[in-house]
Amino acid sequence: MATQSVLVVDDEPDIRELLEITLSRMGLATHAAATLAQARDAVSTVQPNLCLTDMRLPDGNGISLVEYIQREYPQIPVAMITAHGSVETAISALKAGAFDFISKPIELDTLRRLVSTALQLDVDTGRTDRAMDRDLIGSAPSICALRQQIGKLARSQAPVHIHGESGSGKEVVARLIHQHGPRAEGPFVAVNCGAIPPELMESELFGHVRGSFTGASQDKVGLFQAAAAGTLFLDEVADLPLAMQVKLLRAIQEKAVRPVGASAEQPTDVRLLSATHKNLAAEVDAGRFRNDLYYRINVIDVHVPNLRERIDDVPALAKAIVQRICASQGSDAAQLDDSAIDALCGYTFPGNVRELENMLERALALSDGNTVSAGDLQFASSAPGGTQSATRKTPVDAGRSRGWSTAEAYGNLEGYLEDIERTIISDALQECRWNKTATARLLGISFRSLRYRLQKLGLDD
Ligand SMILES: Nc1ncnc2c1ncn2[C@@H]1O[C@H](COP(=O)(O)OP(=O)(O)OP(=O)(O)O)[C@@H](O)[C@H]1O
Ligand SMILES: [Mg+2]
Repeated sequence: MATQSVLVVDDEPDIRELLEITLSRMGLATHAAATLAQARDAVSTVQPNLCLTDMRLPDGNGISLVEYIQREYPQIPVAMITAHGSVETAISALKAGAFDFISKPIELDTLRRLVSTALQLDVDTGRTDRAMDRDLIGSAPSICALRQQIGKLARSQAPVHIHGESGSGKEVVARLIHQHGPRAEGPFVAVNCGAIPPELMESELFGHVRGSFTGASQDKVGLFQAAAAGTLFLDEVADLPLAMQVKLLRAIQEKAVRPVGASAEQPTDVRLLSATHKNLAAEVDAGRFRNDLYYRINVIDVHVPNLRERIDDVPALAKAIVQRICASQGSDAAQLDDSAIDALCGYTFPGNVRELENMLERALALSDGNTVSAGDLQFASSAPGGTQSATRKTPVDAGRSRGWSTAEAYGNLEGYLEDIERTIISDALQECRWNKTATARLLGISFRSLRYRLQKLGLDD
């Protein structure tokens, strides 16, 4: 492979020299520029594989160089050298399209890591987009734009915040950003911030040393370190307790963590992605989320559209999901008939793609034969445009979801109640993954009684 080259832009000769020496020791060719004008010239003549630029230059601001390169040579990553602690600069550089930043005084290890990550990009550009099409299905304009945005963001190290309704595909997006970036070979570590008990959170994220608290019988590596050279995905980040938010902010700013009970900090090397279905800005306004942390993790934000805004994608999604489920169960591919597709397209999907998935999984389990029809689908709310939540239904909702009104139930109480029973039992079965013992326990009835009801309702297989 041809020697890769780096352009160093700084008006201080000492810093230029330090950078050039370090880079040549990494086997790279270096070029230097002391002003913006020289830098622009060098970019066009050398077309380096990476550009490192200082912020303040005699003839202008490093950010305008970032913008220039973004516009004219978008394939060249640019990293910004910032004064220590100048968060604002770092963030505006990232927003302008810088790949990453490094603060002064420059730590050589950090510099080396940054450079190798950036140069990895060149190697990765040949990667196909097949994974993107397979994992993020849809041809709505909003989804096509999202795919493009993912491709672009994958090339940067900027923290990205992903927001969207529950089940809309936030984690899918996070994984794709990781898989299409220079850290793809490294780990992708997802943490659900809402699921870790607050008292364990610090040790989970940062690790602990043996004996630092009761129960800490061994050293433990935290998730930040587990994600080293890869990506740390903080899911449901709005659920972080305020005390942890302070510590997280520090970890991000210092690019270092201190395990519980340890005396020294350890440098970290992660790309940070986060997500929540909540409105993070509103959480800040309500005092539940720190403004400074918001500012740091939300450098670039990505919105995942909800499914009802792109209902035309439902047929393709449904077919792909049915295929996926059948393949995972080792069964023959089932079909969705027209009635099923029509019914799905008339629904509002408060629970988005995840709800569609659950619905199809249940339909496949309950349908006899290899074709799913409208009758096999159970909707949580039938009113188009309705906003019912996808969570557990009340009995009356369950009855109505089968198309009953209360008036119709008069005079046919048996049928009405049976429908309610059928919906609730199917829900419970699905929740227990068709384990009948667990289902009976969940419903508070005996196994025998469950078996009887399944037979009576025609739900047994
Ligand atoms: N565009 C899509 N194409 C294919 N599958 C998708 C798409 N969007 C979401 N999915 C699937 O839907 C399910 C839910 O997606 P994901 O977990 O990413 O959603 P989420 O927004 O993180 O949800 P939650 O808020 O519940 O955590 C996953 O199984 C995922 O594979
Ligand atoms: Mg999620």
